Amino acid sequence: MTPTSHATVLGVLISGSGSNLQALMDGCASGYIPGRVALVISNKDEAFGLQRAAGAGIPTQVIRHREFPDRESFDRAMDQALREAGVELVCLAGFMRVLSPWFVGQWKGRLLNIHPALLPAFPGLHVQQQALDAGVRFSGATVHFVDEGLDTGPIVAQAVVPILPGDDAPTLAARILKQEHRLYPLAARLFCQGRLSLQAGRAVVEGGAWDGQAALINPEN
Ligand code: GAR
Repeated sequence: MTPTSHATVLGVLISGSGSNLQALMDGCASGYIPGRVALVISNKDEAFGLQRAAGAGIPTQVIRHREFPDRESFDRAMDQALREAGVELVCLAGFMRVLSPWFVGQWKGRLLNIHPALLPAFPGLHVQQQALDAGVRFSGATVHFVDEGLDTGPIVAQAVVPILPGDDAPTLAARILKQEHRLYPLAARLFCQGRLSLQAGRAVVEGGAWDGQAALINPEN
């Protein structure tokens, strides 16, 4: 793909606070991401991210998974809304539902997720506690293309944060979340610039800056 001046149309799926949604909206508003968020879908009425979107003048829809007989019919309703909004890239941002293989197939290569761990370590729930229990010195965040698994799929970008003595799940989550707000806009930017694609099961980034000297050691001495 070649870089394009077209503003890629984003759809964002949320279930909660929507701080990553905010980072994506801010990235679009500042021009860092050459795209625009055209639709925010929540499966929960009370998701604060709906207010964030409304405050930015972005259309929202609540599609309640409980109102559908099965996973795929819920996903079909979301798919229809996304298509009607002209969405080209779907970003899962704290969306706490597993997607059906049907939906994943529809959006293959155009469906990103952010997860608060260095995948493939610690998928699923209670992720920060999992990292603390394992005693790892680093955790972080991962943006990946979504496949049929739970928090699996080709990795696009990762941010690493140290785990410090005295950390508990909330302090670690806050440290990771801060980096998520850098990482997700970066990944969306790469996609919208036409520099990120899914090729033969790998996330390929064209023209990226890679630091072969980068290393973190924790503790430092
Ligand atoms: C974020 O930490 C995100 O990585 C996580 O939920 C949080 C949502 O926060 N997602 C997952 O755990 C998905 N497996 P936000 O609503 O403030 O963006």
